[in-house]
Amino acid sequence: MSAARWDAVASSGSVQSMNQTQGQPADVVAPSGPLAPSPKDRVGPGPERLPALLTEIDHVAIAVEDLDAAIDWYRQVFGAEVVARERVDRDGVEEALLGVADSFIQLLTPIREDSPVAKFLQTRGQGIHHVGYRVADCATALEAVKRAGVPTIDAQPRPGSRGTTVAFVHPKGALGTLIELVEA
Ligand code: CO
Repeated sequence: MSAARWDAVASSGSVQSMNQTQGQPADVVAPSGPLAPSPKDRVGPGPERLPALLTEIDHVAIAVEDLDAAIDWYRQVFGAEVVARERVDRDGVEEALLGVADSFIQLLTPIREDSPVAKFLQTRGQGIHHVGYRVADCATALEAVKRAGVPTIDAQPRPGSRGTTVAFVHPKGALGTLIELVEA
């Protein structure tokens, strides 16, 4: 959706009147106050119906200071086991994947000071770093994101861990969440 089309939609009727045509209470569909999407997250209503691009939650990535200690914590508290461990030099991280059904908890720790995860730990501390959404085709999903006017970190799909193909969507414009599109 182009900005011009969004403006056209916005000027053709208020958000409230659009919600009323859908028979939904305006306060449910269009939250105001701190829960409202900021203007930079706004991508417009889009076409009538889009194909569903997300097939599963691939992983939830958690930045940790000490990978072995974090693995032990998940084992002792939840009985979770490591199914794969890998250094990803390109991203400056070592990751451990804990299996949860068909998804993973991805524990991430930096292996270099200039790793984005090192900067994340310095400024935000340990915690959720990004969410990986599984898609059938990374290039198709990335193009859909770009078409919606959402900024991306990766211009093109690239190799991820485990032989996956991935692309990151910028949290600015994605409701504050760093999103990874993962083609397994
Ligand atoms: Co990831």
